[in-house]
Amino acid sequence: MNKINIAIDGHSSCGKGTLARYLSQALGYVMIDSGAMYRAVTLAALRSGVDVHNEQELSALLPGLDIEFRKNPENGRSELWLNGVYEEPNIRTMEVANSVSAVSKHSSVRRFLVAMQRNMGAHKGVVMDGRDIGTVVFPDAALKIFMTAAPEIRAARRFKELTAAGVQTSLEAVLDNLNGRDAQDSSRADSPLLMANDAKLLDNSNLSIEAQSQIALQWAEEAIGKRS
Ligand code: DC
Repeated sequence: MNKINIAIDGHSSCGKGTLARYLSQALGYVMIDSGAMYRAVTLAALRSGVDVHNEQELSALLPGLDIEFRKNPENGRSELWLNGVYEEPNIRTMEVANSVSAVSKHSSVRRFLVAMQRNMGAHKGVVMDGRDIGTVVFPDAALKIFMTAAPEIRAARRFKELTAAGVQTSLEAVLDNLNGRDAQDSSRADSPLLMANDAKLLDNSNLSIEAQSQIALQWAEEAIGKRS
């Protein structure tokens, strides 16, 4: 059967990763979390003391970054490794979350990561989630999904996740972070967060994970059927 690429875009913390993981497992596809790549660049910048608003300083870092996803055999999840080191927990901190939109604004950073992402999807069979996947990375993707949910619902879900992972934060700080990121991601000049004209909208404010999974799997099967 023909494989397709599936693009999942949308607001921060609305379950794009959960849906991408579900679809990749159901279809036997590779899942790629493009946000993890922007987070990895941000982590490298913070560690080396680079000013995240200074595009020249950031660009100088890029050639030295080896970003890859490796599958964890214990849970089947694809995890981020930076320069040969497992960094999955370190890219998920609030410190990185607070600087990642500034880093991802810069065109040189975007060009560098988009080229890597297109390579990863060159043979199809990829489910990639992010902000510009259906509009810029894979404009020809056979299925594009645009996800959203009410900000308060998204903040409550993310707060629960962070607290469970032992991260000390407040619901207000999480809500502020996601509102701030949505505003910055939607208003940047290069590749802003936009719903592609041919994307399907999935508002999961009042949907269970199971319900959203079934809706999206049906869309995927229809899209694969059309290409076969
Ligand atoms: O998906 P995430 O929340 O982990 O992404 C972190 C940030 O990375 C997000 O606030 C904006 C940026 N990003 C982007 O600009 N383009 C993408 N394709 C994915 C993420």
